[in-house]
Amino acid sequence: MAEKIFMDMPGGRKMPAVGLGTWTTDEKEVETALNAAFETGYRHIDTAFLYKNEAAIGRVINEWISSKKLKREDLFITTKLPMQAMHKDRVEKFIKTSLESLQLDYVDLYLIHGPIGTKYVEEGAPTTANIETVETDHIAIWKKLEEQVDAGRTKAIGLSNFNIRQIDRVLKSARIKPSCLQVELNVYLQQRELVKFCQQNDIVVVAYAPLGSPGFNEFLAKTGREPRKLPDVLNDKTIVKAATKHKKTNAQILLRYLLQKNIVVIPKSINPARIKENINVFDFSLDAADMKALDDLEVGEGARVFDLRVPKFMDHPEFPFPK
Ligand SMILES: NC(=O)c1ccc[n+]([C@@H]2O[C@H](COP(=O)([O-])OP(=O)(O)OC[C@H]3O[C@@H](n4cnc5c(N)ncnc54)[C@H](OP(=O)(O)O)[C@@H]3O)[C@@H](O)[C@H]2O)c1
Repeated sequence: MAEKIFMDMPGGRKMPAVGLGTWTTDEKEVETALNAAFETGYRHIDTAFLYKNEAAIGRVINEWISSKKLKREDLFITTKLPMQAMHKDRVEKFIKTSLESLQLDYVDLYLIHGPIGTKYVEEGAPTTANIETVETDHIAIWKKLEEQVDAGRTKAIGLSNFNIRQIDRVLKSARIKPSCLQVELNVYLQQRELVKFCQQNDIVVVAYAPLGSPGFNEFLAKTGREPRKLPDVLNDKTIVKAATKHKKTNAQILLRYLLQKNIVVIPKSINPARIKENINVFDFSLDAADMKALDDLEVGEGARVFDLRVPKFMDHPEFPFPK
């Protein structure tokens, strides 16, 4: 098994194979998390306009760079074009806003957050209750993303939550190919066909919710919604067995499994001990029998947590998942 601490991207660039996720991490939490992550050796941070924490992330990055503990070129920062900016005339404005918040001249990767555009709102995101979708032209938006590479505002561009048909369409018209696809991916939702398609097309796959997003119900509660019955990936008995065998934690087994498939992982944590645990995954290997046992845990669509199952989304022609 190739041990990859960095994944190769087109054009010779490299993406650290473990990054820190920051969804649902507020400004105070992100400060603690980022400091702990940088101390531990993380260099890859995943954020988004919609996470409302870019400014706090920018402050921490700025402190580390100005005190010469880190150089900008050591970092890999990803942010994303939100769904309310899914229009060719909004791409430049939104990447500039993110750069200003992050106090950066460029990001390493700029992603289209999802394939469906929603009605324009200046701040934050439309709420689930009042969501209005709009017609979404991926090709026109992609051209604008390419212009951001030309202008030096991002080193690479990519997609998130797109399906094979949608990626293929972008690939066919692209002057600068998508170099990354960020999707929900873990041992219960392995997305094998999608991963194969991306890897055959030199698109780095980044797994979000690699631990099954165990904090998802906390997020629903915070936003006034009912909890859902979620798959408990983290405590699956096959994972517990592998963890006991390798003297590692359940989370480390889940992350290592994806890394051995050349998939980048971006586990989120605000807990310094877990942040450390989640990157300490390069000193052991899962053997063929372990990998087979974990392969067999595939549930498929039933395990999808971020399913976009809002009526207005499901009626949109670019709804990306099987209905
Ligand atoms: N592109 C997209 O549409 C999209 C969607 C969702 C997520 N993402 C990105 O992917 C990142 C990861 O996804 P996620 O946050 O949904 O899920 P996740 O990383 O699978 O799980 C995060 C949850 O697991 C807990 N956790 C972290 N490490 C742990 C460990 N070692 N042991 C036990 N529990 C642990 C965290 O709690 P504590 O914080 O308390 O440790 C948090 O509740 C996000 O933060 C975001 O950056 C992208």
